[in-house]
Amino acid sequence: MNIEFKDKVVIVTGAAHGFGRAMSRSFSELGASVWGCDILVDELQETQQLCRDAGGNCEVAEVDIRDRDAVFRFVDGVIARDRTVHILVNNAGGPLGQFGKPLEEVSQAEWDIIFEVNTRGSFYFAQAVAPSMKAQQYGRIVNISSGAGLGTSLTGIQAYASAKAGQIGLTRQLAAELGEWQITVNTIAPGFVLSNPDALEQYRRFGEERQQALVNSLSLRRVGDPQDIANGALFLASDYASWITGTVLSIDGGR
Ligand SMILES: NC(=O)c1ccc[n+]([C@@H]2O[C@H](COP(=O)([O-])OP(=O)(O)OC[C@H]3O[C@@H](n4cnc5c(N)ncnc54)[C@H](O)[C@@H]3O)[C@@H](O)[C@H]2O)c1
Repeated sequence: MNIEFKDKVVIVTGAAHGFGRAMSRSFSELGASVWGCDILVDELQETQQLCRDAGGNCEVAEVDIRDRDAVFRFVDGVIARDRTVHILVNNAGGPLGQFGKPLEEVSQAEWDIIFEVNTRGSFYFAQAVAPSMKAQQYGRIVNISSGAGLGTSLTGIQAYASAKAGQIGLTRQLAAELGEWQITVNTIAPGFVLSNPDALEQYRRFGEERQQALVNSLSLRRVGDPQDIANGALFLASDYASWITGTVLSIDGGR
């Protein structure tokens, strides 16, 4: 199998580090014109440099995906320069520095922000790219949800498990709506990957015994790497996945 994205225009949200950085680098190495966005400007520029060092083409911009106008401005800018968008990876998200606590102690603001970033931002981006995907009768949307959206979250954060389940519902609904334009919409549900400060802190809080139990609970006996998740996104965005839509691909080392 030889996957390539020559002449494809790809947007990756949350491109500043973790999965988004690995995806941006991989897509650009495979020939795509990559547009990465995030709220972390310095780290975004590091991602851009990594892509360029790998011989790829990557532009970056500061976009808060909670801001609908900013999302549409960014997508309009991509289309103004590259004429269209072929692939969207809704990756930005996470527990945003929160840790699990009893539900009685969760504030409305804590609940809301998790939804704004993990679910609503994906909706805004899908809205913004849909017209150009429809016009070209081709599109790939890959939403990065979580194993938390299929079961329970190791973080213990109620809003995170709910928002990630919501992203899976959004995937199924958009797949049904957009299929007639040959736009596929799929989700990846990653397992635990030590790719960001929240995950590292969560892992530290587990302590040695629970860390070992976590690794032992995985069929493949190792925690994941950002590239493991990026590889799934490459496949779902490729022509090899042209008859796959509305699905959830678990990439979690096996449970
Ligand atoms: N790491 C894991 O174990 C794991 C497991 C399951 C799912 N996920 C999901 O995978 C995705 C990527 O996770 P990661 O581990 O690479 O985390 P990460 O923190 O490295 O990357 C997430 C990126 O999203 C960006 N972001 C946050 N809020 C934003 C906003 N309002 N606007 C724009 N960008 C914003 C962050 O700045 C960050 O760069 C997330 O959606 C996360 O929920 C991660």
